[in-house]
Amino acid sequence: MAESIYIPQTQDRTEVYEALAPQIKALIENESDLVANLANIAAVLKEAFDFFWVGFYLVKENQLVLGPFQGPLACTRIAFDKGVCGACYTQKQTMLVPDVEAFPGHIACSSASRSEVVVPVFDSQGNVAMVLDVDSDQLDDFSEADKVGLEKLMDILSQTL
Ligand code: SME
Repeated sequence: MAESIYIPQTQDRTEVYEALAPQIKALIENESDLVANLANIAAVLKEAFDFFWVGFYLVKENQLVLGPFQGPLACTRIAFDKGVCGACYTQKQTMLVPDVEAFPGHIACSSASRSEVVVPVFDSQGNVAMVLDVDSDQLDDFSEADKVGLEKLMDILSQTL
């Protein structure tokens, strides 16, 4: 397993996502433990983008349960019909939220969180197995480039499920 990753020093997030994709693939393809892989993906995304909060909520016991993450303490359980994460699970699509206060039902795990992107991760049957949640303390911090880049990374993860 690689012990370090290469992160291009650029403000162009697309370039960073493209550099990360093959490295994340290499990082997780020879490790069968899901928690270990999710922990490393969260760590890589934190290091590459210095996101305020980045982590996973896993589908368990008919709800979303906190998994590996980087950032401040977070809520542990989210009902399928609650918050941005619940909307992502229910609608099976990426939620790009430029202003969390304008999103009905947003769950404020931290009052510092201002914008958010949540990406579904599918299992081999096409069911949502988990969601990747990324939060920023800046308003409108995420764009189509993040949606596309994160979806590609989550697609790589999906192929291991
Ligand atoms: N804001 C999310 C909850 C998770 S935390 O922000 C880490 C939501 O509304 O689903």
